[in-house]
Amino acid sequence: MQASPPRTYGKLIGASLGPGDPELITRRAWRALQSGARWLYPVKKAEAASYALSIVTRGGLAVPADAVPLVFPMSRDPEVLARAWARAAQQTLALLAEGRDLVFLVEGDASTFATFGHLARVVRELAPEVEVETIPGVASFAAAAARTDMTLAEEDDTLAIIPAAYGIEVIEGLLDAFDTLALLKVKPLLPDLIALLTRRGLLEHAVFVEKVGAPDERIVRNLADLADVPAHYLSLLLVRNPYRPRRALLRGCRARRSAPAQQPGDAP
Ligand SMILES: C[S@@+](CC[C@H](N)C(=O)[O-])C[C@H]1O[C@@H](n2cnc3c(N)ncnc32)[C@H](O)[C@@H]1O
Repeated sequence: MQASPPRTYGKLIGASLGPGDPELITRRAWRALQSGARWLYPVKKAEAASYALSIVTRGGLAVPADAVPLVFPMSRDPEVLARAWARAAQQTLALLAEGRDLVFLVEGDASTFATFGHLARVVRELAPEVEVETIPGVASFAAAAARTDMTLAEEDDTLAIIPAAYGIEVIEGLLDAFDTLALLKVKPLLPDLIALLTRRGLLEHAVFVEKVGAPDERIVRNLADLADVPAHYLSLLLVRNPYRPRRALLRGCRARRSAPAQQPGDAP
């Protein structure tokens, strides 16, 4: 019996589009979108609007007639999620098996808390020979820092990027360990986060940014105002802690000073 010829899959491309302003789509992602690759875009449920797709259309590209939505539900139920992921991966693989490249539209940066990494991993578990390309992009917190004139880190500063879901106790510990926190997925914890920042005297060092770069972007510096309008899922908090105690730097890029090294607990 003759062996069937090896299957040739198209390439799976994760195209980061930045967090909302089409001007932040990289030239490489723009080229991938216009390369003839078939578009895949994430939606929360069938027929729902896609934020990633809206970035591209605001940038001036028309959605190709054969673009395919992939459903990733916003659920905490592990079974619902596992089923949806498996379905999305199988759908993606079936399309790749047609031999054409696929470009998956990613909001923000594809390597930062994005659906793409997981999708690519599951697809490769099903077919290890599938080639994957990740096109990096501007992450939401970087765009938010730029929009609000906030420096995330300079010189020897430390920066943590975390989902707020770890809870207030963990975040309070991180405030003592990092100069800047970029807190993502803050919506369900906002009142508790505001209470924490108030208690720690950090309210004036925090800024709330929602849908950065989109036409309905919202920037709130007085966090007390947040009580008035409910937050969108696409929102984050940037917090600087100027009071963080510094430890001595053991090694670094800067030349050593002749002054004695700082001891733990010394003022910065
Ligand atoms: C699943 S993560 C996606 C992160 C994204 N890949 C990135 O590079 O920023 C979703 C969280 O990222 C943050 N986020 C994503 N896009 C945003 C935007 N345009 N404006 C503000 N926050 C955003 C929010 O905290 C949101 O809850």
